[in-house]
Amino acid sequence: MLPQRYSLGAIVLHWLIAAALVFQIVFAESLEGPRGPDLFARYQLHKSVGITILLLSVLRLGWRFVAPRPAPVPGPKWAMTLSGLVHFGFYFFMIAAPVTGWIIVSTSKIKVDTLLFGTIPWPHLPVPASWGEPAEFLHHFMPNIAIALLVLHVAGALRHQYLLGTPILARMLPGGQGKAIGALVTAAAIMLGAVVLGNVIDPRGAAQAAKPAAVATTPVAEPALDATPAAAPEGQEAEAEDVATDDEANAEPRNWVVAKGGTLGFSARWNGEPVDGRFARWTANILFSPEALDASKIDVSIDLGSVDTGDGQRDGTLTGSDFFDTGKFAKATYRASKFKALGGSRYRADGTLTLRGVSKSVPLNFTLDITGDKARAKGTATIDRTSFGVGQGDYASTAEIAGPVAVSFDLQATARD
Ligand code: HEM
Ligand code: HEM
Repeated sequence: MLPQRYSLGAIVLHWLIAAALVFQIVFAESLEGPRGPDLFARYQLHKSVGITILLLSVLRLGWRFVAPRPAPVPGPKWAMTLSGLVHFGFYFFMIAAPVTGWIIVSTSKIKVDTLLFGTIPWPHLPVPASWGEPAEFLHHFMPNIAIALLVLHVAGALRHQYLLGTPILARMLPGGQGKAIGALVTAAAIMLGAVVLGNVIDPRGAAQAAKPAAVATTPVAEPALDATPAAAPEGQEAEAEDVATDDEANAEPRNWVVAKGGTLGFSARWNGEPVDGRFARWTANILFSPEALDASKIDVSIDLGSVDTGDGQRDGTLTGSDFFDTGKFAKATYRASKFKALGGSRYRADGTLTLRGVSKSVPLNFTLDITGDKARAKGTATIDRTSFGVGQGDYASTAEIAGPVAVSFDLQATARD
């Protein structure tokens, strides 16, 4: 004996997928506009919901073969064929829409990693680049067909329920017997809720709220993630001391140990919007005294993989081959041994930044306030990211991501001796 209604699993999956699809199509309207952090966050959500639909749809198809379904509603042949076609079309769309989206992303010239809901890494499909264009065409075209299918689907359900008196809604929704209007209202509410969500959701706002407040330009009050501006590696320290003792004419510079909680960050502009980030792991060897500028020396090493812009997917892109390429260049270094006093507590360092295998001189202005054994240093430098090759391919264009990037730090240190 076949059941009268769909199983609970089929019902839950039907409405979850229906709502997610409507949300997805409405939300996709907002996938246009200038490239930037905002669009990036919207794509991230689009991909996450799309892959979820794919997984739920595979589960649903599996369920269809396992759980018994009610017998098809008898009717004229054309109606039964049409209903079968619409259901087949829906299943096809539920799988093909996300798969074509996945192909677009996997064949795109700029590979952006997919991180589902900001947490689960999702691989690219190993498909040839030539699949990209047809996939893009289908991905844009299919939602129109799905909307036509939905009109037929709903018309069919209403025809049965209200014209022919077969309470078909009851098979897919709790209630809905006879001509009861409750099930219809529930169905309409689910669909409408999805439309409203698709229109109001703003993943950027959500992403920003979740973002740590720490930006390099803010004072050091908050604890750094796991910043370990630690003691110098032995070799470098010895080398620094050599320089100091070689230069007997001057006073010896002091050796400073950076306290936990310092920040080292940057601010770039992407389509006019600021993107602020910081590095959680870096070390600094500082040998510095205002009275011994000639012998002073700083050596900073930054673990580029510890970049944090408050968006895991963007951080993944930054460490990838188009930006920092941490697979090849794990660290950036800044070394300076030329300093100039600018008056008061202001100084300028003329050092060399090595980033992505490129070394260039970068002046750094900073203030240093020393009270006894304690010092606070704050500084900024502006670098041209393009001269270090940070941003390859399409990202090289400064029309979208500005060339100049402001780097800044704010730290406290204690004199070792
Ligand atoms: C995008 C939205 C929707 C999709 C993708 C969708 C998809 C489907 C599919 C594939 C089936 C066939 C289930 C099977 O036999 O395996 C089905 C059944 C059904 N759907 Fe939908 N549906 C959607 C929206 C709706 C809406 C809005 C209603 C209500 C007005 C509805 C009412 C029904 C009913 C009553 C059945 C059972 C049909 C029967 O018993 O033969 N669906 N739906
Ligand atoms: C059921 C699932 C999906 C539906 C209904 C859907 C729907 C859409 C729609 C309507 C657009 C056009 C937006 C516009 O007006 O420009 C679009 C664009 C796009 N979608 Fe999806 N999508 C789904 C899943 C996915 C998935 C899983 C991915 C990637 C993993 C994806 C990636 C994309 C991309 C990259 C674009 C932009 C394509 C371009 O304009 O070149 N989509 N999607």
